[in-house]
Amino acid sequence: MDTRYADAFERFLSTFPGYAATSALDALRASDYARLDALGHVYLDYTGGGLFSSSQIRRHQDLLLGSVLGNPHSGNPTSRASSGLVDEARAAVLGFFNADPAEYGVIFAANASGALKLVGESFPFGPGGRYLLTYDNHNSVNGIREYARRLGARVTYVPVCSPELRCDPDVVRAELELAPAGTPCLFAYPAQSNFSGVQHPLEWVAWARERGWRVLLDCAAFAPTNRLDLAGVKPDFVPLSFYKMFGYPTGIGALIYRHEALRELRRPWFAGGTITVASVQGDGWHHLAPGHSGFEDGTVDYLSLPAVTIGLEHLASVGIDLIHERVMALTGWLVDRLAALAHTSGARLARVFGPTELARRGGTIAFYLLAPDGMPYDVRALEAAAGRSGISLRTGCFCNPGDGEVAHGITRDDMALCFVGSAPAVTFEDCTETIRFSTGKTPNTMRASFGLASNFADAYALVAFAERFKDVPADPVTGAPALL
Ligand SMILES: Cc1ncc(COP(=O)(O)O)c(C=O)c1O
Repeated sequence: MDTRYADAFERFLSTFPGYAATSALDALRASDYARLDALGHVYLDYTGGGLFSSSQIRRHQDLLLGSVLGNPHSGNPTSRASSGLVDEARAAVLGFFNADPAEYGVIFAANASGALKLVGESFPFGPGGRYLLTYDNHNSVNGIREYARRLGARVTYVPVCSPELRCDPDVVRAELELAPAGTPCLFAYPAQSNFSGVQHPLEWVAWARERGWRVLLDCAAFAPTNRLDLAGVKPDFVPLSFYKMFGYPTGIGALIYRHEALRELRRPWFAGGTITVASVQGDGWHHLAPGHSGFEDGTVDYLSLPAVTIGLEHLASVGIDLIHERVMALTGWLVDRLAALAHTSGARLARVFGPTELARRGGTIAFYLLAPDGMPYDVRALEAAAGRSGISLRTGCFCNPGDGEVAHGITRDDMALCFVGSAPAVTFEDCTETIRFSTGKTPNTMRASFGLASNFADAYALVAFAERFKDVPADPVTGAPALL
């Protein structure tokens, strides 16, 4: 072990003593995630997608090879076996989040976006109603505004403020006071921003519900490394993607819903599996199936759903609190180190967007690396350079335009350059270039995120990568560090 690394690790342990108690995760990484080190990967995109353990895959494979599973919802033995496994997965989701089945149910969807679309297209928006949301939502939550607007509801955004990228709680509360009585209103916010890592108060859920709002708490970025206890916090709708929690399977997410809230939704269509009975002769005659059945179009992914049960069992056996402890220690260290990096001139080498304290934040860190003249290096060039060092980072806007606009000081007028009078097919790159050319602002960010299999060496590798750019000017044309 090189001495710089050893010293850094020692200092890290003394600053974040809780990390030492998470050593079970090192043993797990060596056994169940051995491919990371065997293939030389520094994986820092857990908010993009979690990683599966070898044991999950083996268990799933054994289950598939040891059974004959048919299309569910029939009485034959292979169908009954599948139905049993699907029911088991549903119960496992409720159990994992401590949700009482008398209060909550689970709809399986393709991913969190699919779960969000179910709410958006079915929520009874209408004139006088409202859709209230924070700036830092993922685009799949922003997109619900299209349904709200079309049906005449008022759409209101609560801004996040620099530099922490949090909402002013007084503004949120003032907006929540304004739910018109008797008109359906929906409030949506992320439990954790997938851009800044900001964790908004979960107390807003009860506050909003007491004032007549339905609450959609997006837990896609929160659930993989934080405990979500639905016996305590009681949102009406919780969208999730399971690959973000435990890597496998991709292609399955869930909408966890309160029964009472689901009963208010009005589906815009029906499909095989979602009705109890339909007639082709009657005038629109069909009866929607109750509960989750009315919202799961066609055949559920019955071969992959057992892998959700396995993944949840895996996560529970590792311990979400242990994962949280480790992720927060690594986050604290990385944020501190990035903030301390400097060129010889004293100019900062990195800038973190969002909270620099650990309180009320998660393990997602948005940042720039800055040239000695203070301008950010081109993030695509850095992503490619990181890739050549085996480091997987994320760059772009992370489908979270609100956080990006505020982080980079991009105004409505700046954004208008990409919309007003422009060709319909503007790409993200076109828009980025237009804004950069006209305003000098760079609407592109880098993101590192930690998860279950992260360790100190991962965080250290990123800091060592950043240090390579000390005193390196940016190419005046491409913005790439001149040594690349
Ligand atoms: C906070 C948040 N919500 C929703 C989503 C959408 O998830 P998916 O792409 O799996 O549908 C993401 C994905 O990154 C996310 O981070």
